[in-house]
Amino acid sequence: MKFWIKFFFLIITLSAYAQKNKKANFVRERQKLSDGWRFMRYTGQSDNLIYEVRPKIEEVNDSKVADSKPTEAVKIENHNEALKPWILPSGNDFIKEPANKHIRPKANPGADFPFVKPDFQDSKWEKVTIPHDWAIKQAFFTGNNPEVGGGMGRLPSHGVAWYRRKLTIPKADSGKNIYLDIDGAMSYAMIWLNGNLVGGWPYGYNSFRLDLTPYINYGGVNQLAIRLDNPNYSARWYPGGGIYRNVWLTKTSPVHVAQWGTFITTTEVSEKEAKIDLKLNIENRGKFTQSIEVKTQIFELDEAGNMSKTEIAAFPTEKFIVASQKNYADQSTIILKNPKLWGPYPTQKPNLYLARTIIYQKGKVIDTYDTQFGIRKIEFNPIKGLIVNGEAIRLQGVNQHHDLGALGSAFNISAAQRQLDILRELGCNAIRMAHNPPATELLDLTDRMGFLVIDEIFDSWERKKTPHDFHLIFADWHEPDTRSFIRRDRNHPSIFAWSFGNEVGEQYTENEGAKIAKKLHDIVREEDPTRPASASQNYAKPDMPFTKEMDFLSLNYQGEGIRDAPAYLHLKGIRTSPLYPAFQKAFPEKMIISSETASALSTRGSYLFPVTNENSAPVSDNKGGNPITAEVSAYELYTAQFGSSPDKVFATQDRHPYVAGEFVWTGWDYLGEPTPYYSARSSYSGIIDLAGFKKDRFYLYQARWRPNLPIVHILPHWNWPNRIGEITPVHVFTTGDEAELFVNGQSLGRKKKNEFEYRIRWDEVKYFPGEIKVISYKNGKKWAEETVKTTDKASKIIATTDQTTIKADGEDLAFITVKITDINGLVIPDASNIINFSLEGPGEIVATDNGDPTNLVKFTSTTREAYHGLALVIVRAKKGRSGKLKVRMTADDLEKYEIEILSK
Ligand code: GAL
Repeated sequence: MKFWIKFFFLIITLSAYAQKNKKANFVRERQKLSDGWRFMRYTGQSDNLIYEVRPKIEEVNDSKVADSKPTEAVKIENHNEALKPWILPSGNDFIKEPANKHIRPKANPGADFPFVKPDFQDSKWEKVTIPHDWAIKQAFFTGNNPEVGGGMGRLPSHGVAWYRRKLTIPKADSGKNIYLDIDGAMSYAMIWLNGNLVGGWPYGYNSFRLDLTPYINYGGVNQLAIRLDNPNYSARWYPGGGIYRNVWLTKTSPVHVAQWGTFITTTEVSEKEAKIDLKLNIENRGKFTQSIEVKTQIFELDEAGNMSKTEIAAFPTEKFIVASQKNYADQSTIILKNPKLWGPYPTQKPNLYLARTIIYQKGKVIDTYDTQFGIRKIEFNPIKGLIVNGEAIRLQGVNQHHDLGALGSAFNISAAQRQLDILRELGCNAIRMAHNPPATELLDLTDRMGFLVIDEIFDSWERKKTPHDFHLIFADWHEPDTRSFIRRDRNHPSIFAWSFGNEVGEQYTENEGAKIAKKLHDIVREEDPTRPASASQNYAKPDMPFTKEMDFLSLNYQGEGIRDAPAYLHLKGIRTSPLYPAFQKAFPEKMIISSETASALSTRGSYLFPVTNENSAPVSDNKGGNPITAEVSAYELYTAQFGSSPDKVFATQDRHPYVAGEFVWTGWDYLGEPTPYYSARSSYSGIIDLAGFKKDRFYLYQARWRPNLPIVHILPHWNWPNRIGEITPVHVFTTGDEAELFVNGQSLGRKKKNEFEYRIRWDEVKYFPGEIKVISYKNGKKWAEETVKTTDKASKIIATTDQTTIKADGEDLAFITVKITDINGLVIPDASNIINFSLEGPGEIVATDNGDPTNLVKFTSTTREAYHGLALVIVRAKKGRSGKLKVRMTADDLEKYEIEILSK
């Protein structure tokens, strides 16, 4: 070889070496992909890019009682797999047995479809930002037999939609691994890059990663195309549609901490010291074997999430060799002195730490990876209940679905924070994520705010509740979904238990069902041996095989008794007396949690007469329910057929004090499942309505959960022009033990709350306009006082905002509560004035609502009628634009109102 050719090669080799060394200095990048997306809901002829053929819908009944027996899945004839073989390999990292991993077939399906092609012109498609829910801004389906029924929220969340986005990847990135991390896409996501099918993930609630590296055009523009296909009849609630959680582009060196590759557990904890175990999974996606050094430092985080300046401890630095295309699993332990423990609010503090893992290659940092964690000791005690850091904590929990009311399923931190703030005011200390993994940011909030969490993954296994639910993909996906769910969430200190199922049909199938429960439980245990796990039971009894598979007993409604009280005896369906004692007797070593209680129903501010004399009754037409207006009485005594009023639940829990506590169905109203009136759009079961307004029930729970707060709450309101002289019962919720009622100045006597009673009722009161006043007493001393007055006519609009300053980041929101009041500022309890909203300044009105489950006016409407005197308007600042947002509200015959919000 001629000298100059040799010289040329030498230069190339040297510069490649220099490049490699330069790359070796690269630390991971994580970029949030919120902007730059184009979207189209595809209603054209089928694109044939289906995952697999779904069974024909033969019968749907979205208003069937929630505790109906789930049915066997329909067998699909002519199984047409379509793109499934290309999607299955995306789950491979979460399949344990190598033999069960999937091999990608050769061809590249979809390459010819226009939307997949890089040069397709999408400029006419809608510009959207992510998180995005395509259905929430649309019109509701109205009338009988709508395309999407009340069960799924009457909104068009179903169907196929496409998203496209360009990714500019600089040349300097060559040699890096580039991943697409999708926190949640509803559902059956399939992803192409530059015309190549990369993979996908069917289950809409799980987060997943795809490796884009092999398809990247380094030094150029790359075209991403994402297809979602969200089946109708796939859920018993509103699923939302779209890429409804964040999407990230993650760039790493070939050797890096694997996806969710850290697991920190604290098994031995005292105030003096804590043993911290770290499991690390490092992967080498490069071509060469590499020797690396790894160290993990620990920092303290303050309440605002800021890291301490210096590390407070470190795991010993270790050296490994990681072979090409292999993973390296490492485990190490340290003892931390005087740990600051994570514990639930309000008696403990949710202290957090951050573990920073750094990988070095030849002395240079090639990866850093942060893991937030908490140190706490959790015990499940069958007699004392949940013990956190030595303190018995009664679970005062609620169930929450994933939607954010008028904002739909598109995740938003301000909205989630508002939900938690109001729940905290209620005295709630625990959340069950019904019935699927939430956005990770919500778990960051529960960590930071000190809520205890049951993280749940499935509402169905092999047997179905709705024709197109998870049962269709259970066989292929239960393992990857369960493993990825736990790996993603296992470092959150707020999670104290896993739930791998809710009221599944397998409860009914004896050993066969129990075998599936065991299979799932084994996976959970393999992924996290430290947290107990269970699947919630509304049917399986103590002597059934299903129950034996559970670490703790997660009972839905059975504990307090189902259809057992006098008012329920005529109903068909599951019927049992309170089963806490039977479960305790059969499993004296297992802790019992009531994972769903109550299912009490009401419409905020709607009081219907006559009022039942019972302390719990099923709602039916003209008995607590108005079939014409689809309202349910706010006397807070009415329930779903299988439910119990809060009063009945409290009594049963108090009679069985070993029960660790309850999770009420539900904290907030949610979209869909509007039992008992499926003409509506949203549920009646919340303690708080869909707009975030407190129902009367709020004070019933608050009185129980915050016993030291001096409160009295009176219902109903006192504006009954058509009830003059008629019996209008007055009920009172108070933290006092006694109360005296005055109607227009006249005492109706002092009454005591007896044992197992949680309200004080005066059922014989006759209505005359004026005022009702209640003075409550505790231990004989005056404790609290409240007055409700007949109001004057509506004359004013008054508004308050939860935040007077919001960030101009295009995400932060202000929630403005609007009240129709009389001249004295008293809310008019039956006001339904139509309010027009407008906004001046660098912001926009995102949505309006009023909490009425039957209101089918679009959430984006800037006109909204007040419901029982209240309405909500949600406002956002434009990204990067600071200034004053003036929100104006006007209504006929009322003084207009303006509120100012600062955007910074
Ligand atoms: C339960 C079910 C919940 C919800 C609730 C309604 O049986 O687990 O998802 O449907 O009933 O009250």
